[in-house]
Order: sequence, then structure tokens, then C-alpha cells
Amino acid sequence: MRSVKFNKNLKIFNRKDTIQIYLDDLRSSGKSIGFVPTMGALHAGHLSLIDAARKKADVVVCSIFVNPTQFNDKKDLENYPRPIEDDLKKLRQPGCDVLFLPEVDEMYIDSEFWEIELGNLDKILEGKIRPGHYQGVTQIVKKLFDILKPEFAFFGQKDYQQIKVIEFMVKKLNIRVKLIICPIIREIDGLAMSSRNINLLPEERLQAIALFQSLTLARELFKTKSVSRIKKEVQIFLRSCPGIEMEYFEIFNARTFKSINSKNAKTIIALVAARIGKIRIIDNMYLNKLNTY
Ligand code: PAF
Repeated sequence: MRSVKFNKNLKIFNRKDTIQIYLDDLRSSGKSIGFVPTMGALHAGHLSLIDAARKKADVVVCSIFVNPTQFNDKKDLENYPRPIEDDLKKLRQPGCDVLFLPEVDEMYIDSEFWEIELGNLDKILEGKIRPGHYQGVTQIVKKLFDILKPEFAFFGQKDYQQIKVIEFMVKKLNIRVKLIICPIIREIDGLAMSSRNINLLPEERLQAIALFQSLTLARELFKTKSVSRIKKEVQIFLRSCPGIEMEYFEIFNARTFKSINSKNAKTIIALVAARIGKIRIIDNMYLNKLNTY
């Protein structure tokens, strides 16, 4: 049974041993743990993950940790937003029970080595553009799973490739956790919510809706055109958008995460990435499924 008493005071832990003891206790009294991993700069997308966790688990644990090993660009790591006071305010609203907020030296020792074979998943799209990124993501997510031992973990569909990578790791390493994918939360004009959006200049913020427009265009074209035609037309559209430097627009089988040429797959997803000024933005949308926006 869910208990409201956890909602009143957010419990904050900086150390793994103390949070482990606290959660072990709850677990042994029969409570299930729902985990929302984040890097902070929380927005409505994160809060929707917390809501989903609230519905599914007895205790909701959120982590905020800007994980250095998943940044292949030092400047990107430095510029990553860290509005911790604001984040704490948001987490103190009912929903989250426990926050894990470690420092880097709590999570890593100096000479740490991590490598997991991820098949093709870390060689394509984001994996190709950000070498080492998914090694860093799997390294930290595995550590967090080991420490918190959640029954459920919640991830946003916006980082779709990340979900496929974590799914792969969970299966490969036999980790006992159920992954729950939550829909993308969008601004009124369609821009997918992301912590990085804060860093867009006003003009770039306006230009950024081109990604959502490219995906809705793909969805429209999907009704009548072939996959290769959709790709061509959407890529032409993106190249015509001011301020947008397209990195990729691809159409994949959402389950296998492989490029497709026909419309036979049960779930088909379009994925897009672009640079707008100094900021990279990614987005995606199912083309033959109705639940995404
Ligand atoms: O999606 C994110 O915010 C991060 O990649 C994650 C899963 C919290 C790991 O650092």
C-alpha cells in the first residue's frame, strides 16, 4: 500500500551507504521503489516521470547527478545547467520522497574503468556523434541501479536511444528492474522539453520548433509516401530552416532500433538531431502510433 507520509518531507541523501540503509529498510517492510534518474535542471518532463513513479511505486526516489563520464565535450559538461535550489523547490512539491544527490567523488574513484559491449547501439546516431556517451550513461545507471535497487525505473521517450541502450544493458547483465518509458512532454509550440533548452537564445528558441515541425511533417507524409521519400522531403525541409544545422533525420524500427526502408515494422519511429547555435537538440516521434503528443 502506498503511504502519503513520505510526501511531506523530501529526504535528501548525499552518500550511498546512508541511502542504501534507508531504502533497504523500506524494502524489507514491503515497499516498492520507483526510481527517476536525472541530471537536474528539472522541468515538466522530469515531473511527469515522478508522477508516473508515484502511480506505480510506494516510494519515489529521484537522483540528481551531472555525470561527467557521459560528456565527451568538456565545455558541454561545464555549461550544463545546475539550478539546484530551483530543483529542490520542485522536488519538495508532493510526488518525490527521496533525493539522492551525490558529489562526483561519491560515485567515482580516480582510476575507474568501464566498458560494456552495446552492439551497434553506441555506434549509430547519438553514439556516433557523441563517442563514449553511452558508455558513460551505462556506467552511471548501473551504479545507480546497484545502489538504489529500484523495482521500477522511469525514463523519458525523448532520449529514445538511451532507453534502447539501458534496455540492452539490463538484459545483458540480468539487472532486476522494470523500465518504464514515459511520453515526451512538449512546450505549447511543440518543442520537446529538455534541460538544455534553457541555454537557447530567444531567436534560437523560436527556430528550435523546426524539429517538432519536421517530425509532424514526417507523420503526415507517412500516410501516403514511402520511407525513402519521407526522409528526403523532411531532410529538405530541415535544411531550409533558418538557424538549424541538421545532424540526422532517420526512420527506424522502434523495437530493433535499425534503419528501415519499408513500413512493415509494428512501431516506426522518426529521430532527429540538430545544432542550433551552440546547443544540440534531439527529438523523436512514432509515425504509426498515436500516443506521443
Ligand atoms: O537522461 C539523463 O538525464 C541521463 O543520461 C541519466 C539517465 C540521468 C544518466 O546520467
